[in-house]
Amino acid sequence: MPNGFSLSRRRLLAGSSALVAGLVSPFRHLAAATLPADGWLELAARPGKASLWEEGGPLADIWGYDGGVPGPVLRVTQGETLKVRFRNGLDQATTVHWHGIRIANAYDGVAGLTQDAVEPGESFDYLVSAPDAGTYWYHPHNRSWEQLARGLYGVLVVEEPGTRAYDRDLVLAFDDWRLDADRQIDTASLGAMHDWAHAGRLGNVLTVNAHPYLREAARPGERLRLRLLNAANARVLNLRFAGLSPRVIALDGQPVTPHPLEEETLVIAPAQRCDLIVDMPPEAATFRIDEVSGDPFAACEIVSAGAPASREAPLADDIALPANPLPKVLDLASAVTHELLMEGGAMGRMTEAMLHGERKGIRELVGEGKVWSFNGIAGSHHDAAWFSVARGRTVRMPIVNDTRWPHGIHVHGHHFLVVSRNGEKVTREEWRDTVLVQPGERVEIAFVADNPGKWMVHCHMLEHQAGGMMAWFEVA
Ligand code: C2O
Ligand code: CU
Repeated sequence: MPNGFSLSRRRLLAGSSALVAGLVSPFRHLAAATLPADGWLELAARPGKASLWEEGGPLADIWGYDGGVPGPVLRVTQGETLKVRFRNGLDQATTVHWHGIRIANAYDGVAGLTQDAVEPGESFDYLVSAPDAGTYWYHPHNRSWEQLARGLYGVLVVEEPGTRAYDRDLVLAFDDWRLDADRQIDTASLGAMHDWAHAGRLGNVLTVNAHPYLREAARPGERLRLRLLNAANARVLNLRFAGLSPRVIALDGQPVTPHPLEEETLVIAPAQRCDLIVDMPPEAATFRIDEVSGDPFAACEIVSAGAPASREAPLADDIALPANPLPKVLDLASAVTHELLMEGGAMGRMTEAMLHGERKGIRELVGEGKVWSFNGIAGSHHDAAWFSVARGRTVRMPIVNDTRWPHGIHVHGHHFLVVSRNGEKVTREEWRDTVLVQPGERVEIAFVADNPGKWMVHCHMLEHQAGGMMAWFEVA
């Protein structure tokens, strides 16, 4: 991990199994919110506690939805609208953004663009539509770099109607935390310019569903759908599935043709999701998921034991998910093209950029915390639209990474097709809301701009976003 934090060596794999055994969590499932049949779901952001360092160990002060981290798993059926009455119980203004949901613009939750930030003690009502089935999440869009680092995020599951090809699903929300010597969230380093100019805020502890070492129970022969989320501010996850042979069925909520992992590890950038099907073998077994972006690190395990899975009717053979109603007809020939050039960061070539409409040199920019640019502009919430596009037009967006750092670029309100990487056509159809672009890489994406309103494009390494990697476009 260049210039960054690596995860605590406490749980390095070699020879650590005894240590691991002492740190495991009890089997525990994430709390799901009970949705009122008709009416409003109350959701509050407020302070809470979580045992992040070790199971049953010191409690860290966190900010969480309903005081927990992750917040409650919200489950709706495709086509339903979830009505959320959000209340801010923090002493800092916040919002809720429904990441990956093709939502009406007024409920996109971007402070300063689609709504005013919700002040402490105030409320905001969100109408969360669910046109697409899949795995999504929610998090603040005001001081995201601080509020997510403190624990504000939750998973939103939109269920496909009808029968399923798996027994049960498990939500696995990965996050890394930077804890200080008191095992509290290291708040002193929030906003540290070193992080902003490098990879972003990397943690020293990795959790799954906020457990230092999550253990999930399964049955022999059970077929599970794993819903993986990377909720970290900046860490790109590299996951290794020892012994399991997962098959990928969805990326960022959108179905893909089911396929085994192509590489040894599964790469999940911040904000991305990946849905996997795994089959437990007929005999009892334990499977560990390791994170190997730095020193290999045991993240969680699935333990299958007891009576074999039983089911009334056999599961469908076909694990492919039904298609979502995305506007797929891409008219690339008559599309409008808007290239996104990323510059800046440590060891980068950026010498100046526009900030609030004025040209500034790098020193001045650094003084203002702006160390990255999109198309020569160090972005802020006060900028004018990057472009505006007529509703229904297809937008091609080549994304060029002229920096020394990877970036996960997220487009609001739409899902896009990943068309090519470095000029090579991407062969498997891949629809996403966040795409990882490596240093020196050029990735072209395309989408039909069919959702009216003002939509952000930003890096989901949250320190990069705050440091200038943000812009917005308008669909009119
Ligand atoms: Cu996950 Cu603009 O956000
Ligand atoms: Cu970035």
